[in-house]
Amino acid sequence: MIVQLAYVVASGLFVLALMWMSHPSTARRGVRCGEIGMLLAIIGTLVRHEVVSYELILIAMVVGAAVGAPMAFLMPMTAIPQRTAISHAFGALAVGLIGTAEYYKHAATAGSGSFVMYALMFEMLLGFLTCTASVIAFAKLQEMMTGRPIMFPGQQILNVLVFGGAIVCAGLLIASPETTQVFPIFVALALLFGVLLVIPIGGADMPTVIALLNSYAGLAASAMGFALGNKLLIVAGALDGASGLILAIVMCRAMNRSFTNVLFGGFGQLAATAAGGKGEDRVVRHLSPEEAAMTLENASSVVIVPGYGMAVAQAQHKVSELYQALTKREIDVKFAIHPVAGRMPGHMNVLLAEANVPYEQLVELEDINPELPQTDVALIIGANDTVNPSARDDPQSAIAGMPIIEADKARTVMVMKRSLHAGFAGIDNPIYYNENTQMLFGDAKEFTASMVKELSGGGGH
Ligand code: TAP
Repeated sequence: MIVQLAYVVASGLFVLALMWMSHPSTARRGVRCGEIGMLLAIIGTLVRHEVVSYELILIAMVVGAAVGAPMAFLMPMTAIPQRTAISHAFGALAVGLIGTAEYYKHAATAGSGSFVMYALMFEMLLGFLTCTASVIAFAKLQEMMTGRPIMFPGQQILNVLVFGGAIVCAGLLIASPETTQVFPIFVALALLFGVLLVIPIGGADMPTVIALLNSYAGLAASAMGFALGNKLLIVAGALDGASGLILAIVMCRAMNRSFTNVLFGGFGQLAATAAGGKGEDRVVRHLSPEEAAMTLENASSVVIVPGYGMAVAQAQHKVSELYQALTKREIDVKFAIHPVAGRMPGHMNVLLAEANVPYEQLVELEDINPELPQTDVALIIGANDTVNPSARDDPQSAIAGMPIIEADKARTVMVMKRSLHAGFAGIDNPIYYNENTQMLFGDAKEFTASMVKELSGGGGH
């Protein structure tokens, strides 16, 4: 009875956590709520009568904490995508191993076509493939292997054969659970399929893939709940599965790409080839930090558009100082947030919150765009694709149709980046050559710091 009550309360807390995490102002409360829900779920599980050995559980908890705690404290914010990937790999491995134990427990007794075997096979297929797929996603993002899509002739056929083989093995095991010799082949094929699924995807598409793998891991946990008769796992897994899928859909929409394009498009390949090119013979205007600071000082409204480069340079604290220096001069400063700026959902929100920029100043794409034509200066810091006008103006562009922040419509546009090189999509950006654009060449942190110094040095008018 107490266990069931703990599970019901934990399920409610997980739902509230998801609701609160969807807004920056309540996100911290959402995280706390999820943590309390998880603690309740663990306590509920520990007081169940079926627990065989508390000693073994304690050892597992110590080992888990010894790996998890340093990861949480030591990995930097920019490494969150790969940290999430490796956590998924562990979670999915746990799901697969519990499924394995349950399979051997039921192999002799479960009848042909039993519900438990259906649930276990589904759970293990998703669990094992998510485990290896997440390890590859981690390795790509951590640059332990090439981030480029790995493609070879006959790849799709091999994928179909491996996945088909795993399904056939699962079918055999459901029909005759006692044929234990098929089981290792099933596991090997599921593990191999996870690798094959992710190697053709470019490193920069990994955040979308991770959201999708999150969804698979959730579905696997839900299936495990059915196999074990654990209602909390069913609810928590379903929430995880649905939220991962919704997140992946939101990310694809914001990039105007389909799932198929992300999974089979080999998109990251473009990046190295299409950059630079025809832009080089066009005129580009640029400003020094002193001149840029002066332009900002003379503005009455500024919209800062942060992007991946701000994350790479870790410039958020300097950007926050710039925000303070400008607001002190009574300049109206807002931040324009594109849903896929950076490399993970909410990337800019997280960085700016870390640097104590008030979240009320963070304005979503659809709300900031109507304001930009009346804005004195749009200051783009390390953003590129998310402000590329060709997405709006050129139907032939690789990013045609992707919603953009229309920074080019501001009276003056300043673009801070190190060169004219392309961003993630690997395409030229016409905004650099517009008459109202001034390039601020340099590392985002150093350039912003110089501007802040200039502004606080009292070089004002
Ligand atoms: P990007 O288009 O990737 O451009 C980032 C720019 O930052 C680069 O052009 C680079 O130019 C500059 N940069 C790099 N390091 C810098 C530094 N230290 N200082 C200053 N600038 C630096 O960025 P974005 O506009 O944020 O767009 C994000 C892209 O990622 C989109 O195409 C989106 O579809 C994709 N994507 C996003 C997500 C999520 S969920 N956010 C997931 C998958 C894919 P230089 O080399 O010239 O400095």
